[in-house]
Amino acid sequence: MIQEYEPEATRRATGDTESSRASRGWWDRNADEYQTEHGAFLGDDRFVWGPEGLDEADAALLGPASGLAGLDVLEIGAGAAQCSRWLAAQGARPVALDLSHRQLQHALRIGGDVPLVEADAGALPFADGSFDLACSAYGAVPFVADPVRVMREVRRVLRPGGRWVFSVTHPIRWAFPDEPGPEGLSVAASYFDRTPYVEQDEHGRAVYVEHHRTLGDRVRDVVAAGFRLIDLVEPEWPDWNTQEWGGWSPLRGHLIPGTAIFVCERDEGPSGGS
Ligand SMILES: C[S@@+](CC[C@H](N)C(=O)[O-])C[C@H]1O[C@@H](n2cnc3c(N)ncnc32)[C@H](O)[C@@H]1O
Repeated sequence: MIQEYEPEATRRATGDTESSRASRGWWDRNADEYQTEHGAFLGDDRFVWGPEGLDEADAALLGPASGLAGLDVLEIGAGAAQCSRWLAAQGARPVALDLSHRQLQHALRIGGDVPLVEADAGALPFADGSFDLACSAYGAVPFVADPVRVMREVRRVLRPGGRWVFSVTHPIRWAFPDEPGPEGLSVAASYFDRTPYVEQDEHGRAVYVEHHRTLGDRVRDVVAAGFRLIDLVEPEWPDWNTQEWGGWSPLRGHLIPGTAIFVCERDEGPSGGS
C-alpha cells in the first residue's frame, strides 16, 4: 500500500529554484482538480481577473476590447488559457505561457488555436519587443521568489509603451487566516512578515510555495523593473457572486479586498535594460 504523506505547512525562506520546482510539481499534480472545481466559473473563453469575478470584458484594463484586434499579447501563468481564448475572440494574437505541463494539457483539451508555451515566467523564451501587451490573472507572480526578475523579463519582451496588467492575492490577506468563514476575519499574523508560506514533504522539500509582498513592495517591484503604475484596482465583491473560492468568500469579500490588479505601462527606454 502506498502511504500518502500529508505535507507540512510552515513559514521559511525559499529561493527561486525551489519555488519554481515546487510550483511545477504542485500544478501538475493539482491541475485536474483545479479545472474541475473552477473551470465552470472561469469559463472556457472568459477573461476573469480573480475570485470576485471581475471580467475584462467589463473592466477593460488592457484597453478597450475594440482596440485589441491585431495586437500581440502574452498571457503569463495562463493555466488552461481561458483568458487567451477571450483575447483571440477579440481579434488579438495571444500566446499562453505556463510552467505546468498538465495545465497546458487542459488548454489543449478545451481547444482553440492559441499557441501554448511551457516555460518559467522568470526566463521568457521570446525576443525583445515581441508583444504589445502582457497580462496575468493570478499566474506566476504570487508564486515566485524574485518578482522583479519576472517584471524585467516582461518589460524586455514588451514593446515601448506596452501595458502589463497582473492580478495577485491582495497583500492584506496575508495577515488573515485563509478561511472563508468568520474565522478568516481576525488578524492572525503580521502583514509585514515576508517569510514565504511553504508546504514541504517528509524530506523537507517544498511542494507548494506562496510568496508575500506588501502593497508597497509590489509598487517598488514594478517601478524597479521599468514600469509606470497607472492604476491599482481592488475589485469589490459583487452581489451576484455567491460562490466561494478557497478562502475568498462573499462574507469576507464584502469587508476586505481579496485581489489586487496592477495596471502598468512599460517606459520608453531600450528593451534590454531595466
Ligand atoms: C492560480 S493559476 C492561474 C491560472 C489562470 N490564470 C486561471 O485563472 O485559472 C496559477 C498558474 O500559474 C502557473 N505558474 C506558477 N508559477 C509559474 C512560473 N514561475 N512561471 C509560469 N507559470 C507559473 C501555474 O502553473 C498555474 O497554471
